[in-house]
Amino acid sequence: MAARILEGRVFAQKFKEDAGTKAAELKEKYGIAPGLAVIIVGENPASQVYVRNKHKSCEELGIYSEVISMPEDTTKEALLEKIDALNGDSKIHGILVQLPLPKQIAADEPEILNRIDPAKDVDGFHPVNVGRLVTGEDALVPCTPAGCIRMLELADIPMDGKHAVVIGRSNIVGKPMFHLLLSKNATVTVCHSHTANLAEITREADILVAAIGKPNFVTADMVKPGAAVIDVGINRIAPKKLVGDVDFEQVKEVAGAITPVPGGVGLLTVAMLMQNVVKAMEMQMKR
Ligand code: GUN
Repeated sequence: MAARILEGRVFAQKFKEDAGTKAAELKEKYGIAPGLAVIIVGENPASQVYVRNKHKSCEELGIYSEVISMPEDTTKEALLEKIDALNGDSKIHGILVQLPLPKQIAADEPEILNRIDPAKDVDGFHPVNVGRLVTGEDALVPCTPAGCIRMLELADIPMDGKHAVVIGRSNIVGKPMFHLLLSKNATVTVCHSHTANLAEITREADILVAAIGKPNFVTADMVKPGAAVIDVGINRIAPKKLVGDVDFEQVKEVAGAITPVPGGVGLLTVAMLMQNVVKAMEMQMKR
């Protein structure tokens, strides 16, 4: 039997509705809407599209939005100064520095991201938020993995006591995904490029998360019949052709549920960011 297709659009819509409702409640209660500032340095075309989408979502949901475009040759000092100003700006509850950064400051990425006030760190990349996620405290959590977990919950796919296998160990997806699945009482295995006998491990997974960055890497023989397969990959294999890390056509015949690419997890990220902006304001108002 072919898999149930988990359409990102459906879940993203629900996340956004929830964020919009909460944004209105916060505005009513405090007289100010939640606010997001996105800093984009340089002219990366993909980044420009992502930033525009974030701004548009804010406008739809009644979230105040500032996009700060800085030139390609921006220095680390100029960027840190901008972050300091936003940290002290009471209209702004969430700050996001769009990645990747231009090459002259790429190596300074940790210092730059760590300058964001952890309370405003809606990407959840600051070590304080990473630490809170690991210890199980209330944290701002990276949007993509947080969106995947929320989607599994809304889709009634059980995690408690299940074996979840994550392929990929990045700070943005793989590692936070491990902690989030663990917090839902899954038994979690993390695999990566040095893992021996990968297919043997992935075939044990009730929930398989692919976040590798290799087109069509996960094939049907690597998937347990009936498993939930979450594809976080976005790989451009031709000017107009995006594919995931999972060979969708093959794997949908084996899996119980699967996310498509495009139209799957990618749509959850911006929607989850809206929830993080609202959550950041709620946390700041309680301080
Ligand atoms: N570039 C691609 N994905 C992301 C993300 O999740 N956060 C930021 N800040 N930049 C990105």
